[in-house]
Amino acid sequence: MKALITGITGQDGSYLAELLLQKSCDVYGMIRRASTENFERIHHLRDQIHLVQADLLDQLSIVRIIDEIHPDEVYNLAAQSFVPTSWNQPVLTGEFTAIGVTKMLEAIRQIDTNIKFYQASSSEMFGKVKEIPQNENTPFYPRSPYGVAKVYGHYITVNYRESYDIFAVSGILFNHESPRRGLEFVTRKITNGAARIKLGLQDKLFLGNLAAKRDWGYAKDYVTAMWLMLQQNEPQDYVVASGETHSVEEFAQLAFRVVGLNYKDYVEVDPKLIRPAEVEHLVGDPSFAKNELDWKPSVSFPELVKIMVEADLKFIASDAHIESR
Ligand code: NAP
Ligand code: GDD
Repeated sequence: MKALITGITGQDGSYLAELLLQKSCDVYGMIRRASTENFERIHHLRDQIHLVQADLLDQLSIVRIIDEIHPDEVYNLAAQSFVPTSWNQPVLTGEFTAIGVTKMLEAIRQIDTNIKFYQASSSEMFGKVKEIPQNENTPFYPRSPYGVAKVYGHYITVNYRESYDIFAVSGILFNHESPRRGLEFVTRKITNGAARIKLGLQDKLFLGNLAAKRDWGYAKDYVTAMWLMLQQNEPQDYVVASGETHSVEEFAQLAFRVVGLNYKDYVEVDPKLIRPAEVEHLVGDPSFAKNELDWKPSVSFPELVKIMVEADLKFIASDAHIESR
């Protein structure tokens, strides 16, 4: 079994690569050329995976690698994935996150329609939510150029499934986090900030909207759902979520509690971090994935916060040690 992962250098790509290796897959990762390597998350896997250069912006490069590798499964995780950047770079976000999906599907259509395809859809598509909780039938109302691009990616995947009989599925994943989460996302910003404050490296943590609510899960659990979706008899789209929602403020409260501090003494709101249009309340209904895929999350919200804070304490302590030498 051969699998190609786009976005292998990202949070999800690195966990998915680990999972597929455990399943005895031959793992190929698509990377884009950079002047310096950006492989921290997959460093430990380097001698077990194959890295191939291509870019979501370059159709021919995608056709070439899919033709050369001829994978059984393609997981399309690559995207411009940070919501605030999508207001500053809306066109580029559309090129990567929307049209990039068509480029992947078109390559599969031309080379071999038996290749299975996973698209990383997002709860951001629900945006200004039409119902609570959100499930596979909830209408979309995206609130950012990123969300709009993901809606395009979602429907083009449905369309290639229906037009060309490709086994193409979308996982509508709610927020999932880990110690490998990028530092700009709110969970990692908080756990990293709490750890730095505890270690005396920082005084304050500036955040935006503390009232926003998210359905947060653990990334390792969520990549298992991606794999399960491609092992089914029928291609279908699934919501993957914990079914619980918590505010950014609650996340901060718990994270500071892990290091024995009161978040109110350190967290301040910076109005510059408030978004032009906000997604206020996300909470998913994962019943379909639970029933059909036999999938359920294994890490609770407080456990997730603790895992991330403890990892950051360790990471920063070793870093601070290097700084002080
Ligand atoms: P991430 O950590 O930001 O990783 C994004 C990956 O995409 C990186 O490997 C990046 O490569 C790659 N990439 C970006 N532009 C590219 C291009 N033009 N060509 C090739 N590769 C490119 O994202 P993540 O959190 O792992 O999320 C994975 C996917 O799931 C994304 O599509 C995201 O939108 C979606 N999603 C995430 C969540 C979540 O909560 N994490 C929830 C729902 C959906 P570089 O290392 O070179 O930048
Ligand atoms: N990033 C960030 N930084 N967000 C903040 C901050 C801050 O300082 N303060 C408050 N927030 C709020 C945001 O306004 C948002 O409501 C919430 O925290 C979560 O923000 P992010 O962690 O940046 O994630 P996101 O929900 O916008 O997007 C993530 O999840 C999506 C799935 O719903 C990304 O991973 C997307 O790629 C993914 O599709």
